[in-house]
Formats: sequence, C-alpha cells, structure tokens
Amino acid sequence: MKKWRLDFRIWHWVHAAVVLGLLGTVFLRKTFLSWRTNSELLSQKLAEMDLTVTVEQAKALATTIRAPMWEWHILLGYALAALLVWRILLFFTDSGKRNYQNLKEETLHKKVVKLGYIVIYGILVFMAVSGLILHFHEALGLTEEGAHTLKELHELVYNAVLIFVPLHIIGVVIVENREEKGIISEMVHGGEK
Ligand code: HEM
Ligand code: HEM
Repeated sequence: MKKWRLDFRIWHWVHAAVVLGLLGTVFLRKTFLSWRTNSELLSQKLAEMDLTVTVEQAKALATTIRAPMWEWHILLGYALAALLVWRILLFFTDSGKRNYQNLKEETLHKKVVKLGYIVIYGILVFMAVSGLILHFHEALGLTEEGAHTLKELHELVYNAVLIFVPLHIIGVVIVENREEKGIISEMVHGGEK
C-alpha cells in the first residue's frame, strides 16, 4: 500500500499551486500593479501629453489595469475553498490521517510540524471563509464598515500564510537532505507504507 494515495498527492500539489498562485496575485497587487504607484505614473505620463487627470481619475485608471489580474485571486480563491472541502473528505482516508495518528510516539520536532499543519489548515479555512464573505459582502448584507474590518483581518492573517509557505518548503528540503531522505519524492510517487 502507498503511503500517500494518488488522490492525496494530487490534492497536495494542486493545493500548493493554488496557494502559491494566490500569493502571486497579492504580490502583483502590492508591486507592479499597485494602484498607488501606477496612478502616479499614469498622472505623470498623461501630464507629459498635456492631459490632466484628477487623483480619483488616475486611481480609477490604475485599478482598471489591475482588475483582470485580481480576477485570478477570486478564481483561485474558489479553488482553495473547494480544495479545503476535498481535504476534509480526505481525512476519512489513511493518507489523510497519517500525519495525525500516534502523536505520542513522535519526537517533539515532529509534533510541532504536525501541529503546524493543523494551524495552517485553520488559517486557510479562515482565509477562504473571509475571502468569500468579502467577495459576496453586498449580497450578504454586510455593511461597508464591516467589510473593511474583515478585509483588514484577511490581510493580517495572510502574513501567516506568507510565513508558513517558505518555512514548509525549506523544511522539507532540509529533512530530505538529512534524516528523511525521499520525503519529497514520496509526495510524488506515493512511497511505500
Ligand atoms: C512547492 C513546494 C512544496 C514541497 C516540495 C512540498 C512538500 C511536502 C511534503 C514532502 C509533505 C509531507 C511532509 C510530511 O509528511 O510531514 C508536505 C505536506 C504538506 N504540505 Fe507541502 N510542499 C510544497 C508546497 C506546499 C504549499 C505551497 C502548501 C500550501 C499551504 C503546502 C501544504 C502542505 C500541507 C498542509 C501538508 C500536510 C499534509 C497533511 O495533512 O498530512 N505545501 N508537503
Ligand atoms: C491563501 C489564501 C489567501 C490569501 C493569502 C489572500 C490574501 C489577500 C490579501 C493580502 C488581500 C489584501 C490585498 C490588498 O488590499 O493589498 C486580499 C484581499 C481580498 N481577498 Fe484574499 N487571500 C486568500 C484567499 C482568498 C479567498 C479564498 C477569497 C475568496 C474567493 C479571497 C478574496 C479576497 C477579496 C474579495 C479581497 C478584497 C479585494 C478588494 O478589496 O479589492 N481571498 N486577499
């Protein structure tokens, strides 16, 4: 029997791609497609062409340029929500449970790693639920003030995802080179139990 069933491996890699994609959209929003930077650039360029725009108009232009990219945040967001439901179903399989059984026999380091997975699952559920509420806040009857507070929380908790992802990748690469040779390839071919 395989350590990681095929569906679990597919789940892990699709989920990894979706989370990295979500982080990518945030990176673009905060850098190359930042409305603050781009509205200033647009105002300057338009002024050179003898066209004056107000700060509000420049902001509208910059957010219009950003919009098609940000649609990916929402699309990947739906995918994340679906993947989390899939992860709950996987909990009923041996692969889905394997990291969370016989914890007493594990070293302190492993206990911390596994607790870390539970924490990140909780964080991702929060990101998915808060993101969906933000996207549908008008239909849900949430006030603009309420949506603003929720957005600040969504943005604050995002930092935890930003910290987990590199730590996780660096962590598995380190143990792959030390005491757990094959840990990464097992997530590719499934490994033996
Ligand atoms: C792209 C590079 C990545 C590599 C090489 C990688 C590799 C691995 C490996 C080898 C495991 C099994 C570790 C173990 O049994 O303790 C694992 C588990 C896990 N990975 Fe990744 N991963 C990557 C990206 C990600 C990303 C971006 C996420 C997103 C949050 C993620 C989330 C998880 C989670 C939650 C588990 C625990 C699975 C469980 O519930 O048992 N991984 N990863
Ligand atoms: C790993 C998961 C996620 C991360 C790391 C993340 C990160 C972020 C960040 C940092 C922001 C604030 C961007 C800014 O104002 O500069 C944001 C906004 C937002 N996110 Fe997410 N998010 C995630 C999941 C989701 C999901 C699942 C959805 C729902 C489909 C979603 C929908 C939104 C919406 C609607 C906004 C507000 C955009 C606006 O005000 O124009 N997010 N997200």
